[in-house]
Amino acid sequence: YGDGNQKIDYVFKVVLIGDSAVGKSQILSRFARNEFSLDSKATIGVEFQTRTLVIQHKSVKAQIWDTAGQERYRAVTSAYYRGAVGAMLVYDITRRQSFDHIPRWLEELRSHADKNIVIILVGNKIDLENQRAVPTEDAKEFAQKEGLFFLETSALDSTNVESAFLTILTEIF
Ligand code: GTP
Ligand code: MG
Repeated sequence: YGDGNQKIDYVFKVVLIGDSAVGKSQILSRFARNEFSLDSKATIGVEFQTRTLVIQHKSVKAQIWDTAGQERYRAVTSAYYRGAVGAMLVYDITRRQSFDHIPRWLEELRSHADKNIVIILVGNKIDLENQRAVPTEDAKEFAQKEGLFFLETSALDSTNVESAFLTILTEIF
């Protein structure tokens, strides 16, 4: 049972990964609490937040795990991926390097996670369109080649944050 004695039909674990400062923690905070902070601190270790939604008349508790993009702050990798049914692979559209590192994150994900995990590639910070360094087409092409879902988001102004999680949760369902 979730908050307010609501019956929970399913619990889905989803993991967030990607370079430091791409906005993983703020995407989560926007989704779970509808909050955003510009002076967000780098994550140390692992944190998680939950939100219960109704999908196709069933209540689904999304348990979203968030870890540090910085190697020195990361926790044990295998434990982080264990039981995850969805993953959000995040880069920052204003930082090319964060997109260039995506193949490495994907490799780590594929070597540790369940082979049926649902993955979405997310280009965050589209509110900073004037500083864009990664063309939408490049990311779309990569996602297509690797069989990933793809969306561009802004945790700051909420664009597509809900849709990104719903894409994963609905597909798992
Ligand atoms: P690590 O925990 O170190 O892995 O970083 P992270 O990926 O969790 O990044 P975090 O969410 O802490 O955000 C890093 C910085 O980017 C913070 O200053 C955020 O306020 C900012 N930020 C996050 N999302 C957005 C966004 O959509 N737009 C803008 N303009 N800034 C954002
Ligand atoms: Mg973080």
